[in-house]
Amino acid sequence: MRLCGEITVPGDKSITHRAIILAAIAEGESEIIGWLPSEDCRHTLNAVKAMGVEVLERENVLQVKGCGLSSLKEPEDVIDCGNSGTTLRLLTGLLAGQNFVSFLTGDDSLRKRPMCRVVDPLREMGAEITGRFNDTLAPLSIKGRNISAIAYTLPVASAQVKSAILLASLYASGETVITDPFGTRNHTELMFKYFGAGKQGFKGRTTNVPDDFSSAAFFIVAGLIIPDSVITIKNVGINRTRTGLLDVLKKMGANIEISATDTQIDCYEPIANITIHTSNLKGAGIVEGEIIPRLIDEFPILCIAAAAADGETLIRGAKELRVKESDRIATMAKALRVIGVPVEELEDGIRIEGRERWGGGMCETQKDHRVAMAMRIASLRKDGVIRPDDESCINTSFPGFNHLLDSLIK
Ligand code: S3P
Repeated sequence: MRLCGEITVPGDKSITHRAIILAAIAEGESEIIGWLPSEDCRHTLNAVKAMGVEVLERENVLQVKGCGLSSLKEPEDVIDCGNSGTTLRLLTGLLAGQNFVSFLTGDDSLRKRPMCRVVDPLREMGAEITGRFNDTLAPLSIKGRNISAIAYTLPVASAQVKSAILLASLYASGETVITDPFGTRNHTELMFKYFGAGKQGFKGRTTNVPDDFSSAAFFIVAGLIIPDSVITIKNVGINRTRTGLLDVLKKMGANIEISATDTQIDCYEPIANITIHTSNLKGAGIVEGEIIPRLIDEFPILCIAAAAADGETLIRGAKELRVKESDRIATMAKALRVIGVPVEELEDGIRIEGRERWGGGMCETQKDHRVAMAMRIASLRKDGVIRPDDESCINTSFPGFNHLLDSLIK
């Protein structure tokens, strides 16, 4: 079996959430071309609809009729954010300065994830937010009110926190200044610039959503570890705040070409075609420091590359992984042990000793979409003996993943 072909992956999840939210509070119509119709993004879409925003869905385009910054209406029911931390945290920022009350909740996983990281700075701005477990967990209730600007330095590497404050700042008196010492993804900043977003209001725009690098990542690693493979992934977003995986894989000896596309997109997000040839990977050595936020969502698939490499990979300084859709350090350590790859679990990372051959077994995904996709890629190496226990969670970010993968198998 080999993997060959030219593919495109679905639109970027982070950018789709942001485009929906900004379009909802812009004045006039926005089109979002190539948006990601996954479960996570549909939660954001349903939330803005519940606040009275008119949205028309046609094929791969969303038409959003925004009526301006102060046009949102009080939702009649609790807003369900499902599995989506981005929906819950960004909306908390958006809702803090409205003139109505709202309630946000999510699934079992999301209700366990820390919300104090957004509640604390928003309260500093004057927001009235309460939640379970001493206001640290969802469901959250947000009593919209007048809020004011803050100067805030992110204490954790979280673009969701940064974005929640940025959205709140549109409704706050005074000038908000946020310092991000970690260099987390900057899609909100770029989209504010593109829309001309500010407190005085802004006009709707057409956004072309780049394809999601985090989705492409699974095919990049698949192409590298499955013998005799060549895959080209077209028009992928290559914003530097997202592509740390490429730097690590190149250090491991990966043959990856990045080439210019003949498509142009505006909105300040760079795109490229990515071609991968099977490569003999070496262990990455130590992966730490500034690169961690740039590859945070690629941790599960990077573990698979490391498990197939010759030598050791040590990832550290990545404690944030413990509070993702699952505790990704624990989930991946357990999964790799099932296939007989030696791992050491660290508080803030993992040590992996690559193996030429793997064993087989059933891996627990903890309903984490990125773990399920990583293990599905791993399963290709051993004739399907290794299986994720649940694949339905893949729809969180990547509907059509298995179908697209099957189309490459020759
Ligand atoms: C995201 C930010 C990251 C990332 C998540 C999407 C975003 O989360 O892991 O998948 O769209 O802003 P954190 O803000 O918790 O780091």
